[in-house]
Amino acid sequence: MSEHILALEQITKRFSGVEVLHQVSFGLRPGEVHALLGENGAGKSTLVKVMTGVHQPDGGQIYLHGQPVTFSDPLASLQAGIAAIYQELSLFPDLNVAENIFVGRQPTGAGGRLDWRTLYAEADKLLSALGMHLDLKQKARNLSIAQQQMVEIARALSIDARILIMDEPTSSLTLGEVADLFRLVRRLREQGTAIVFISHRLEELFEIADRVTVLRDGAYVDTRPLAEVSRDELIRLMVGRPITNLFPKKEVAIGEVALKVEHLSSEGIFEDVSFELRRGEILGMAGLVGAGRTDVARAIFGVEPPTSGRIEIDGKAVTIGSPQQAIDLGLALAPEDRQLHGLIPPMNIVANISLPMLGAYARRGWLRPKQERDATFAAAQQMEVRANNIWQRARELSGGNQQKVVLAKWLSTQPRILILDEPTRGIDVGTKAAIHALMSELAGQGLAILMISSELPEVLGMSDRILVMREGRVTGQFTRAEATQEKIMAAATQTVAAGETA
Ligand SMILES: Nc1ncnc2c1ncn2[C@@H]1O[C@H](COP(=O)(O)OP(=O)(O)OP(=O)(O)O)[C@@H](O)[C@H]1O
Ligand SMILES: [Mg+2]
Repeated sequence: MSEHILALEQITKRFSGVEVLHQVSFGLRPGEVHALLGENGAGKSTLVKVMTGVHQPDGGQIYLHGQPVTFSDPLASLQAGIAAIYQELSLFPDLNVAENIFVGRQPTGAGGRLDWRTLYAEADKLLSALGMHLDLKQKARNLSIAQQQMVEIARALSIDARILIMDEPTSSLTLGEVADLFRLVRRLREQGTAIVFISHRLEELFEIADRVTVLRDGAYVDTRPLAEVSRDELIRLMVGRPITNLFPKKEVAIGEVALKVEHLSSEGIFEDVSFELRRGEILGMAGLVGAGRTDVARAIFGVEPPTSGRIEIDGKAVTIGSPQQAIDLGLALAPEDRQLHGLIPPMNIVANISLPMLGAYARRGWLRPKQERDATFAAAQQMEVRANNIWQRARELSGGNQQKVVLAKWLSTQPRILILDEPTRGIDVGTKAAIHALMSELAGQGLAILMISSELPEVLGMSDRILVMREGRVTGQFTRAEATQEKIMAAATQTVAAGETA
């Protein structure tokens, strides 16, 4: 056991009587990147939170440097040299970048007064060392998810941790940003830092991790060196069965134009965006984080109406001033940020899914709970949401299952035009294949789908046509047959050479 800097022995964890970790053991060596792998809800984040004192185990023991320890709260684990970046981002929205990095430990000068000069100098040093370019005075609420993630990483690293835990750090980063993060991870590993790394992207594990521990249904399955395990074997360990049909895009008849966008602009954010989306079509929207894709989606959906341009639905010009108007016109938008825009965490699954549909379930002002429950149950089942029951609060669900609830919520509105912003982020390989199959089926039924995705294999595998954006403008359009990874990357960056890696 002494080879381990951190060891968990036979950890059991229950939430209100339901056991979600069954006697799980895990050993972390100094200077290794140790991946945790498992389906959505397998218990990865819970295990991490046991390591950091967010949750107390109901059974088992934690050892640090071979000594039994108890972390009564996250501060205790932090003081013991364990830093964590959690799956749900945890910045203070009204504090700026520098304040968030040093929150709770701001440098003080004489008389205990805040030393702003040192605060900004230290924050700047840290971010430049990490190769991150951020405005230190920008408030966290104005940052993209990728930028928020960078701040979280900077905060974790500012502590000089011996153990660094990263729960899906790459899920909202694009290729270049992932390469930067991996460079950093390798540097830390060389310095002897032990790293726990969670990701649903198997290619990433093969690239960065030394060993992988697989969990299934809250139980330990196996620990293997990555060099000695194949991709298919990993999937089998994780899911219990092989998955063959990745990207099951079916050929479907493409119909009439459902959505036409002409010269759409939102001052200072995006400019002159034009495209058509037809029934039965999946239009992929590729680009780097911050290219303006989400802003275009939000403009079309009436969240932040555009400053100029034209939108037509089924050949008729429309003005969409609010999401409710968009919903009434048959549009749905499943947003990328499930915590900010997608879910109401303290409400249960039923309430979350039926939210945009309340009108349909109500008769003369009274909710009809049975109908609500049946429709919700069907939608949750279609998305393979895994929970104790449909009355469980959204915030208690695993990250991937929260994402499934957001998708179920918008599908239950039975839209005719569906906008999906990063639909499979944080979703495990098995469910991802199921979501892709569902998209393909919906397209087959005549739904028009606009899919924003930063994952090139997903864009290439699922789209009939691909639109690429860069810095608020459309910089490329490709048919399914024309599109290649290189062409999309070139249009998305136009400066970085295609296929660049760490
Ligand atoms: N606070 C909580 N209360 C009740 N149940 C919880 C709570 N936190 C987690 N769970 C349950 O524990 C199980 C494991 O969840 P966990 O978040 O660890 O999964 P995960 O492996 O991280 O999944 P994902 O890949 O989706 O992030 C799930 O069934 C989840 O619903
Ligand atoms: Mg998780």
